This record gives sequence, structure tokens and C-alpha cells, in this order.
Amino acid sequence: KKVVLAYSGGLDTSVILRWLQTNYGCEVVTFTADLGQGEELEPARRKAEAAGVKQIFVEDLRDVFVRDFVFPMFRANTLYEGQYLLGTSIARPLIAQRQIEIAEMVGADAVAHGATGKGNDQVRFELSYYALKPDVKVIAPWREWDLTSRTKLLAFAEEHQIPISRDKRGEAPFSVDANLLHSSSEGKILEDPAVAPDESVYQRTISPEAAPDVATEISIDFAHGDAVAVNGVTLGPAALLTKLNELGRANGIGRLDLVENRFVGMKSRGIYETPGGTILLTAHRNMETITLDREAGHLKDSLMPRYASLIYNGFWFSPERRMLQALIDASQASVTGRVMLKLYKGNVIVTGRESPNSLYDTRVVTFEDDQGAYDQIDAQGFIKLNALRLRLGAAVGRKGGAL
Ligand code: ARG
Ligand code: SIN
Repeated sequence: KKVVLAYSGGLDTSVILRWLQTNYGCEVVTFTADLGQGEELEPARRKAEAAGVKQIFVEDLRDVFVRDFVFPMFRANTLYEGQYLLGTSIARPLIAQRQIEIAEMVGADAVAHGATGKGNDQVRFELSYYALKPDVKVIAPWREWDLTSRTKLLAFAEEHQIPISRDKRGEAPFSVDANLLHSSSEGKILEDPAVAPDESVYQRTISPEAAPDVATEISIDFAHGDAVAVNGVTLGPAALLTKLNELGRANGIGRLDLVENRFVGMKSRGIYETPGGTILLTAHRNMETITLDREAGHLKDSLMPRYASLIYNGFWFSPERRMLQALIDASQASVTGRVMLKLYKGNVIVTGRESPNSLYDTRVVTFEDDQGAYDQIDAQGFIKLNALRLRLGAAVGRKGGAL
């Protein structure tokens, strides 16, 4: 019996590793992914070795993450509940997918994760597991064990000689998740949604107040909906997002203090930092303003909240997400060109856009002489027919659209 554990090397998953070995008596295979969380991975390997793990997988998935998950999501200008850029949500299906691939490879019939029974992540991991391996056995220690408090967890760690790093010995200040797209902090003092956190919660951005008094001017190039260059320099997916993160960090961009609705039904408060993603979202939306047909754009906009909920709720690997993705991807055929921006004290300000596929026609829109490019007389009938039902209503006493 073998189980593949999504292993960060942190205290929680180290306890889970030992708990699986003692309680299930099964061989544990660990999988640690570099998604750009900004942590060394070698310590995780060493800790797994020390725990007697024989098959250890440590993989750099940063480019796959940005190319196959982040970029497809950004083609839709995706925001959950109008604000959240889904930094954690979008990473879960990739981790789950790779975990299942490893399970198939090493002949494991079970997978395990360290998410609690209260949150979204358990749902995202497990829906992905089941969609990819219908007969998989899922072990979620947080829902099963009796380590119901931090104190019990630490006692278990002590008893099994699991090293607890000094600064983590007390209580970790927050529950943190991080990858190349974002970092999130939840729990502890953040659990009172009325209270502002102090600066120490922020790890990816300087404060807007501390940002330079001079704007940083940049350009982003897009090809078929995906960002391909910053300031004219072509970059691969992960390198490009890394570059935007640096620019965002230095200008105090991408902080979000949010109360959101979890899929399981409760509200939760989190502090998110998405510096590069926040720049990318504004740039991409503005690339679309000149390259997308109006109705094509409005249609994809109307579907975006649905698409965002699917990702938030863990349905990346579902027929409905694939259908929406096909529509969104098709819409991006002409979304190519350059957007110029200024980054200034937490703001992303668009200053220009250009595209070989632009639908913007100066001859038609101009306030000057349009040389016959547009016939203003056409507007007369257009307005008259649109007004017809309003006039019929007003004529029988329903003035101003009264019902
Ligand atoms: N609330 C956010 C979400 O549901 C962030 C979750 C963070 N996860 C974590 N394991 N700390 O996407
Ligand atoms: C967790 O419960 O493990 C983190 C929060 C979440 O998944 O929503």
C-alpha cells in the first residue's frame, strides 16, 4: 500500500507524513512542487529522506503553472466575487494532477493532502483527484485525526522528533499559501474582519505609501491573449510573471483585503497580494478593448463570473469549464498587440494601446471631417426604431418607462 502526499516540508505536512506512516502503516511517497512560492525545496527533500521516504519527487512546475493554468484563466479577465484573482484556487488542480500522475507512476492507490475540512482547498484537490482517477483513495488527515489543536500538533511533532523550526515553534502568525501568482494570509488576528492587519502580513509588496513618487512606465506585449513580453523583451511564462511581480512589488500594487464566500458555505477573510497578476489583468483587459468585437467581448464578460466560480469551487477538470475555456480561447485569436502602462503607488494606469488587429477606426470616430466614412443620417432610423416601444408605452400613459 502506497500513498502520494502533497508535501511542502512545513510542520503540518511533516506531521501528516509521520501520521500516515504510523496510522496507516503505508509507504509514503512525497511530492513537492515549486510553483514559485519562493521557498527552497531542498530542505523538503532532506526532511523526507530523514523521515525514511524512499520515493521523493521534487519538481519545478513554474512554467507549466503559468502557461497552462494562470494564462488560460487570465484570458477571461477572471475575478471571483468581483475582486479575488484566484491565486490559490488556480494552483490546486495542477498540484492534484501531478500527484495523480505520480501515483500512477509509482503504483500508489491513495493520495493525501494537508488541507483542513473547513475550506475550499480540500474540495479543489479532491474534485481534481476524482476527475482524473475515479477509483483513487483520498486521505485527508485534518478530517480524520485527533490532533485538533495547534498544541496537540506540536506535541505529536515533539514525540516523533519532527523538527520544528525555531520561529515556527510558537504559533505561526497566519495560514499562508503562496505561488508565483499570489500569496494569501488567513487566520489569527485576520479573523476579525473589522481590524486592519499591520504591515508585517504583507510579503510581496511594499506599501503604496512607501512606493516611489515617480511613476514606472512599462509596456506589455500580447499574442493571442497571452502576455509574451515586458518592455519589448520576450519572456517565457514564469519569467514574465516574475518580472511583473518585481515591478508590482516595487510600486505597492496588488494588495487586497477581502471577505469572500467559501464553497462550503462560510465567509472568510483573507489578505492577498497579487502584484504581477494585478498589472496583467488591467493590461489584458485593455488589449481587448481595441481587438475584440463588442458583442464577443460582452459575451465572454457575461460568462466570466460563472467561469470564476468553477475555478474557485474546484471544477477545473470538468466538462463545463472546458466548454467555457474553448469559447474564451477562441475569443483571443486577435488579441495581439501592446499596452502601455504607468505603475504608481498601488495604481495601474493605462496610457496607450496598439495592435495590428485593432478595430479602432479614427476615420469613423473622429470629431473632425470624416470624409464620408460614416453617414450620420443612418443614426436617425437607428434611434427611431429603438425608441418605438418606448414611445408606444409613453403614448398610453407609461411615461419614462413606467410599468
Ligand atoms: N481563501 C483563498 C481561496 O480559497 C485562499 C486559501 C488559502 N489556502 C491555504 N491553504 N492557506 O482560494
Ligand atoms: C484550509 O482549510 O486548508 C485552507 C483554507 C481553504 O482551503 O479555504
